[in-house]
Amino acid sequence: MSMLTRRHLLRHAALSATAATPAGAALSATTTAAVAGATLSGCQPGDPADHTATASSPATRLPFPPDFGWGAATSAYQIEGAAKEDGRGESVWDTFSRTPGRTRNGDTGDVAADHYHRYAEDLDLMRDLGLRSYRFSISWPRIQPDGTGAANQRGLDFYRRLVDGLHERGIAPMATLFHWDLPQSLQDVGGWESRDVAHRFAEYADIVFAALGDRVPVWLTINEPKTVVQNGYLTGHHAPGRQDPDAAYLVAHHLQLAHGLAVRALRANSGAGRIGPAFNLHPCYPADDSAEAAEATRLYDGYENRLYLDSAFKGSYPDDVLADLGPNSRMVRGIRDGDLEIISAPVDLLAVQYYTPIYVTASGGTVRRWPTSEASWQQIYPDGMYDILTRVTRDYGPMPLTVTENGLPTPDVLADDGTVEDTGRVAFLRDHLAAAHRAITDGVPLESFHVWSLLDNFEWAEGYDQRWGLIYVDYPTQRRILKRSAHWYRQVITTNTL
Ligand code: FCB
Repeated sequence: MSMLTRRHLLRHAALSATAATPAGAALSATTTAAVAGATLSGCQPGDPADHTATASSPATRLPFPPDFGWGAATSAYQIEGAAKEDGRGESVWDTFSRTPGRTRNGDTGDVAADHYHRYAEDLDLMRDLGLRSYRFSISWPRIQPDGTGAANQRGLDFYRRLVDGLHERGIAPMATLFHWDLPQSLQDVGGWESRDVAHRFAEYADIVFAALGDRVPVWLTINEPKTVVQNGYLTGHHAPGRQDPDAAYLVAHHLQLAHGLAVRALRANSGAGRIGPAFNLHPCYPADDSAEAAEATRLYDGYENRLYLDSAFKGSYPDDVLADLGPNSRMVRGIRDGDLEIISAPVDLLAVQYYTPIYVTASGGTVRRWPTSEASWQQIYPDGMYDILTRVTRDYGPMPLTVTENGLPTPDVLADDGTVEDTGRVAFLRDHLAAAHRAITDGVPLESFHVWSLLDNFEWAEGYDQRWGLIYVDYPTQRRILKRSAHWYRQVITTNTL
């Protein structure tokens, strides 16, 4: 890989979801709220991509399809806590977060939102919100503490109680098999650089399907393989904290292989339930009108989107990305006959996670076009939601789509009167839902939408500093307080109208 490519990869990795915030880059509380509340204010005249952001006016009423799956999302390590209970093994995130200097304030997921103990209360809150769908993840080290071998029944029992509790409240469970908490024992034998770990993943998936397959209607395989690749292996600010571009793309291949093997396992197991991948997709736009910017944008899009989409839905990796990586790269050498057939095993739906666009310059760098949230990697651009949903439908579909993550962090404060006025989140969600509605109107088969996140939680390297939830968590007491956005979302769900 050329030095240019290496620089390019590292730069675009820094832009990816959950990239570390450079010190001082976060906007001040009031600015961020104002920005999030006025998402169009950053529009540059003469935007070369000519994407005019269109927020819905509060006066506009946008009805959603009947039975639309209004939801919210979480992940195991970010909310559960109970790190040492009921036989749970260690994950790479335990190791990483306990390593000094890796997370803000040295925060860990040891306690998090204590959801493992408070899940019944959280289920009641979901019911009170009117949620129709809840997307959560299953912790591999709770099911197989060392990543292999017999199942830990107490781990399975927890998820059975959770899933049953959802059904009792009329909420459809949507379970992600892997949201980054790889058992540490598997990392010790090479982690996702080892092809064998993809097979271990399929065995784990098989255990989970056998235990919960009769009561989980929708499965997602691997959450955001790209973030593992970029943050875990390029920038290294996520577990396992590596900076090794050559390893990174071999990891990408093995994550895709693991996805395909899990799809096969479900079909072989019961056949019941639908399954698909969960990709964070970034619409990429040229930063100017030059042919060079257009070309650089295309390669960028290859690394951000097509690497994952093409392999899963077309059965091939994009030629431009393979050429850029080079024939001697570990990834290209690691692809075996039949792998792409496994990776492209037919799925039932695609889960899209949208947070930010990327603007690419002629030299392959990036520029910022829109105001950012407290997460400096996130530019607020609702039309990106429309663009990515219509694009995947055009290029890979039509197939059922679900949005499994969309949201932003805001500087939420619990006021003396017990309220949390996160008006920036309300504006953000309204604008992004309006864009999703426009995509539906234009023929995109979007069946559900999950806000990231149900609860404030452990935001990886950012620890507990960033608050992404509809529900405020007062960490010292673990008290839950519905933010203004939660009340607003309940109203949207009740009326099925934005
Ligand atoms: C996504 C992750 C999720 C959360 C949000 C903010 O990339 O899937 O766990 O961290 O970003």
